Amino acid sequence: MLQLHKADGSEDGAAPAIAIRREDYTAPAYWIDSVELTFDLDPNKTRVLNRMVLRRNPDVAAQPLKLDGDDLNLARVLVNGQGTSFKMEGSRLVLENLPEGSEPFALEIFTTCCPAKNTQLMGLYVSQGTFFTQCEAEGFRRITYFLDRPDVMASYTVTLRADKAQYPVLLSNGNLVDSGVLEDGRHFAKWVDPHKKPCYLFALVAGKLVAREQKIKSRSGTDHLLQVYVRPGDLGKTEHAMNSLMYSVAWDEARFGLPLDLERFMIVATSDFNMGAMENKGLNIFNTKYVLASEATATDTDFANIESVVGHEYFHNWTGNRVTCRDWFQLSLKEGLTVFRDQEFSMDLAGSPSARAVKRIEDVRVLRTAQFPEDAGPMAHPVRPDSYVEINNFYTVTIYEKGAEVVRMQHNLVGREGFAKGMKLYFERHDGQAVTCDDFVQAIADANPASPLTQHLAQFKRWYSQAGTPRVRATGRYDAATRCYALTLSQSCAPTPGQSEKQPFVIPVELGLIDATTGAALPLQLAGEGSESANATTSRVIVLTEASQTLTFTNLDAEPVPSLLRGFSAPAVLDIDYTDAQLLTLLAHDADAFNRWEAGQRLALRTAINAIADGAMGIGASGQFDHQILAAEFVDAMRSVLRNPALDAAFKELVLTLPSETYIAEQLDVVDPQRIHAVREAMREQLALSLQADWEAAWEQNQDTGGYSPDPVSSGRRALSGLALHMLCIAAQKTGDVVWPGKAYQRFKVATNMTDRFNALTALVASGSELAPPALARFHALFKDEPLVIDKWFALQAGAPDRGGNVLPAVRQLMAHPDFSLKNPNRARSVIFSYCSANPGAFHRSDAAGYVFWSDRVIELDAINPQVAARLARALDRWKKLAAPWRSAAREAIARVAAKPDLSNDVREVVTRALAE
Ligand code: TRP
Ligand code: ZN
Repeated sequence: MLQLHKADGSEDGAAPAIAIRREDYTAPAYWIDSVELTFDLDPNKTRVLNRMVLRRNPDVAAQPLKLDGDDLNLARVLVNGQGTSFKMEGSRLVLENLPEGSEPFALEIFTTCCPAKNTQLMGLYVSQGTFFTQCEAEGFRRITYFLDRPDVMASYTVTLRADKAQYPVLLSNGNLVDSGVLEDGRHFAKWVDPHKKPCYLFALVAGKLVAREQKIKSRSGTDHLLQVYVRPGDLGKTEHAMNSLMYSVAWDEARFGLPLDLERFMIVATSDFNMGAMENKGLNIFNTKYVLASEATATDTDFANIESVVGHEYFHNWTGNRVTCRDWFQLSLKEGLTVFRDQEFSMDLAGSPSARAVKRIEDVRVLRTAQFPEDAGPMAHPVRPDSYVEINNFYTVTIYEKGAEVVRMQHNLVGREGFAKGMKLYFERHDGQAVTCDDFVQAIADANPASPLTQHLAQFKRWYSQAGTPRVRATGRYDAATRCYALTLSQSCAPTPGQSEKQPFVIPVELGLIDATTGAALPLQLAGEGSESANATTSRVIVLTEASQTLTFTNLDAEPVPSLLRGFSAPAVLDIDYTDAQLLTLLAHDADAFNRWEAGQRLALRTAINAIADGAMGIGASGQFDHQILAAEFVDAMRSVLRNPALDAAFKELVLTLPSETYIAEQLDVVDPQRIHAVREAMREQLALSLQADWEAAWEQNQDTGGYSPDPVSSGRRALSGLALHMLCIAAQKTGDVVWPGKAYQRFKVATNMTDRFNALTALVASGSELAPPALARFHALFKDEPLVIDKWFALQAGAPDRGGNVLPAVRQLMAHPDFSLKNPNRARSVIFSYCSANPGAFHRSDAAGYVFWSDRVIELDAINPQVAARLARALDRWKKLAAPWRSAAREAIARVAAKPDLSNDVREVVTRALAE
């Protein structure tokens, strides 16, 4: 008997997890020119008639047609109208006796499926009585047999039939060409998509929905209809999404010359969704979280997220849909580029340089707290991966956020105009095609022949092929005799799984020099350059290509303070031995707002790391850190920032927020999560107590933001007043003061927007006030009919600071709450992920109960929704860094999951990689 080799080494009867490799790519043996789909929609048994026209790909040797399928009941297969022989190979349908030659032939396949039982939320499923589809990456095969790969692009005609009373709205991609009534109370709608597309962009929606509509005219004068579909009752929460969509259409036309290519563009919201949203051609499907907003129910962060996700999906219409991916290894071709585009969109809308910098800082914070750990852990992979077991596991912060940084570096290396030219060339060359990351970089480079990108093209592409975060080590030496400052930049990158040797990257380092006494920006003149004013700029970009390079700056009267990697000019870690005084100078004076913030973060980080390492400082019996940690200079610097009238409130809030526990942990070789938590809490307490008067002033000055608007200035003021209130409640908890918790409760009660209300509630809960329980009860009563607000209510409690191990029992209680459901991803995330992934101080218990809880939930969720389960499985990715006893306990919990016999490929891949040596 043939012995199957199991890639995962498992010894049970589970299906072997086979790795798919990029180098194995071959073109499809058949093309599908057109698809005519007819759906008879029924939650328990939906009938799908699929009539395709196919032809052999003349460039590929003749071979059988192998169609992907998953969880389908096959009823009929006809070739050119005749019955035909077929066989199954696993879940694939194989046809061997197809017409010879290159003539097109007709293939008709009739299948049924059961949307009501589809808890994976991939393929066709039912959410609150409405049908939805999710096909990316490989969900179309759960609807019909098909060549489910992005390089097979077809024309679609879709007829939907359903009960008219229950499913009055019938939507699919493209244009509505016909509709009418049928017998038995049923009706139909026929849609034709004018654009060819890969099947992952197919979508249908059927149910009781209502739409906000908006007619728009493009720059070139064409008319379009925009629609945002939601459940009846939610229409009042669609204005912001519609505005965001209108801005998106205008922005893509203005900045990149890319117009809307459809008469009708639809967004539909569903509360059951695995991710944020999906860019199906002309029919975007969104998680309600990224559509519905009113000032009463959504925070400023929600408003900002809606703007960027609406933008993101809309921008995919060109970067993803018109030009798509050849294979899923090229995922960042569309995702990295589209994240870059949505980031730029939000920055352009934000307007002021300060608001742009705030957005940049927020984006970098995500990259560093989520992507850097991924790049240093067991799931590390290049922006263009070389292999995967389950593609769903590769919708990662590396593909998205690091991918966006790689596009951003290209943008910065060729300049804004050059990048626009490169994009133009990209579409001239590849519109309508399925292409690779190489094709994209090549277009940007070819449009900018004289740029440093083009000069170092082959080396630049290592950003796509090498995983891991490079480190740049900077050392400076000032020589008074020659008045020269020599700055040496050296790069290195640690090994990642499967990649032991790393070649040097192309690292654009934007830098400036600052006068150590006055803080003034100094002219940058490199040795050998004249002193003519053209070169005497105060900020410039040095392209680091060697393992080590030394730059010599001349004409300097004293040792300057270097400001490096300005604006986070490359996704790298900067190692530099600043003195505290130098960091204080940068914090007070750097013209680059990003590095100003960064200097404050470095000071805080250094303080935290020293306190964590200092054995003389201990955690007292109360579980609290028993030492003053912050230096007076640091506190004074924070006070100056708070008081500085020239700085925006949003920026102040970022500077006054300490680095997260996750980010601190990432800097350490051995992680004691309890000690990190205790040290950070002690630092916060000290900031709260020593700046009390200034927090009061910040609260007073920023608490009233007038009529609600989510713009950067007023949301920044709400963020700062919220932090101030939080700090004042923390201080009150220490001093026994009851005034501030009382004020917070009052604020919570009378607030007219969710941002202020939720900030006040958070201050009460996080400071452990006795007013927290009544406030939580009141909040639930007020918003019991608002699922997205109830998610916040759950998340706040599951993410609360641990007091003597009280969070885990609270989480178990929350799971027993009548509003809890494991099947709804938003709800599962709000409780389980908030605890396991976002509350390290409570999750990493020394009795390992947090880990046992985690393994139970991973296993439980895997049976319902493998994609969501696999994300939860990653909560222990960094277990190898943990100190004893957490390390062994975490290993055991992961092994416990791995030992389950019938795991999904999704979870198996994650735990197998986590346990690999
Ligand atoms: N392409 C989607 C995006 O805009 C991502 C996405 C949405 C997705 N739903 C999914 C990916 C389900 C995989 C599975 O980023
Ligand atoms: Zn995307």
